[in-house]
Amino acid sequence: MSNDIALPAETDATTTGAQRKVFVKTYGCQMNVYDSDRMTDALSRDGYVATDDMQEADLVLINTCHIREKAAEKVYSQLGRLREMKKARAARGRELMIGVTGCVAQAEGEEILRRAPAVDVVIGPQTYHRLPEALKRAKAGERVVDTEYALEDKFSHLPQAEKAKTRSRGVTAFLTVQEGCDKFCTFCVVPYTRGSEVSRPLAQVMEEARNLVSAGVRELTLLGQNVNAWHGKDADGRELTLGDLLNRLSEIPGLLRLRYTTSHPRDMDERLIDAHRNLRMLMPYLHLPVQSGSDRILKAMNRRHTAKDYVALIERIRSARPDIALSGDFIVGFPGETEEDFAETMRLIETVGYAQAFSFKYSIRPGTPGAELGGQVDEAVKTERLEKLQALLFSQQQQFNESRVGLEFDILLEKPGRLDGQLIGRSPWLQSVNVAGHPDEIGSLVRVRITDTGVNSLFGERV
Ligand code: 5AD
Ligand code: SF4
Repeated sequence: MSNDIALPAETDATTTGAQRKVFVKTYGCQMNVYDSDRMTDALSRDGYVATDDMQEADLVLINTCHIREKAAEKVYSQLGRLREMKKARAARGRELMIGVTGCVAQAEGEEILRRAPAVDVVIGPQTYHRLPEALKRAKAGERVVDTEYALEDKFSHLPQAEKAKTRSRGVTAFLTVQEGCDKFCTFCVVPYTRGSEVSRPLAQVMEEARNLVSAGVRELTLLGQNVNAWHGKDADGRELTLGDLLNRLSEIPGLLRLRYTTSHPRDMDERLIDAHRNLRMLMPYLHLPVQSGSDRILKAMNRRHTAKDYVALIERIRSARPDIALSGDFIVGFPGETEEDFAETMRLIETVGYAQAFSFKYSIRPGTPGAELGGQVDEAVKTERLEKLQALLFSQQQQFNESRVGLEFDILLEKPGRLDGQLIGRSPWLQSVNVAGHPDEIGSLVRVRITDTGVNSLFGERV
């Protein structure tokens, strides 16, 4: 991460006041990716255009992540480098504005202005719609921190995908339907940085989805820290859950595929499982973090379910949709984790069988209950456990990929491949598939038979 913002050689590129450029560096989860796009859209109303080249930017935004260790320190060292860039600019009479957004902004707030003198604005995830105004105030000489949990709904103030018309959309898009979390797992900062659980209303989600599809999007991934806690009401006031929302979205003409992430096991309700049974458009892939296989640790983590509950849930989901692939998140070295607890996590992984997984060493997050617990695990022990766990998960992933060889299924063509005449598509299980094809076919589903696996992708032939 520390090399991501290197000092660029200064060029003489100048931009006029009418066409200012914004460079956004995004860290962390898909929701940050989505948020970065919304911020860019919001700024486009003020004449900003997005650039991938930091050198030509008039405004640099760092959209930060706070989920694991040392995030804040890394942000500060980047800001140190940006300060140099700002000084060099100023010497040549040209301005550079710097903003920090995202979860580090939320957690650090004023502290950022104190430690990083070059920063003009600090904006938390709930106030992105106020970014343009904050920039105006900053231009007038103020240094602005806005990390309130705003009373107004940021989504109804941020311009939507198609309306903003600033960027051409790809074949796939994220759509935030829910934000924040009330679960308070004892290791996690999300309830503090993203606030409590809020669902976007049905009509707003449907409108944004239709806009995205009319801009060419064929696959939507619904986002939320706790996406399956989404709830809403229809026009008659009937209570809806995520399963209902997926059903409604599936009726949008032109939309081909649906996914959602990330889910909590406690919120996998019957209607959602039914959606997996009945909706062919809902891809057979589920990211369902369990974190640990030990009931003692699950309890200390405040996950509010046992390992057995989780395995039983997976069985129900698999009987609804037998070809579903599972993905998960795991933490090793949570305070108090013994060898036996860890062995139970390994056994749970063996029992479930994952197609994909993300695994982490526990990292103390100041302000969370986990940070106060005794029995912090030695770094070397964490490293050893993580290596064992990742070796097992990696072999399961390889096995899963190899199990696709010889199968026939549809892939959604997303982009050109590295070679002429090649395209890259996505399997129902999120694997990249290389296949022959013409760029005109991008955005459509084609049938392939898998012939081979590579390190990170599959190879297919058209059938
Ligand atoms: N330490 C390690 N991993 C964490 N995660 C969240 N908080 C921590 C932490 N303090 C992991 C969890 C979560 C994923 C997004 O990040 O596995 O599911
Ligand atoms: Fe964090 Fe737990 Fe909420 Fe997930 S469910 S965002 S891990 S508190």
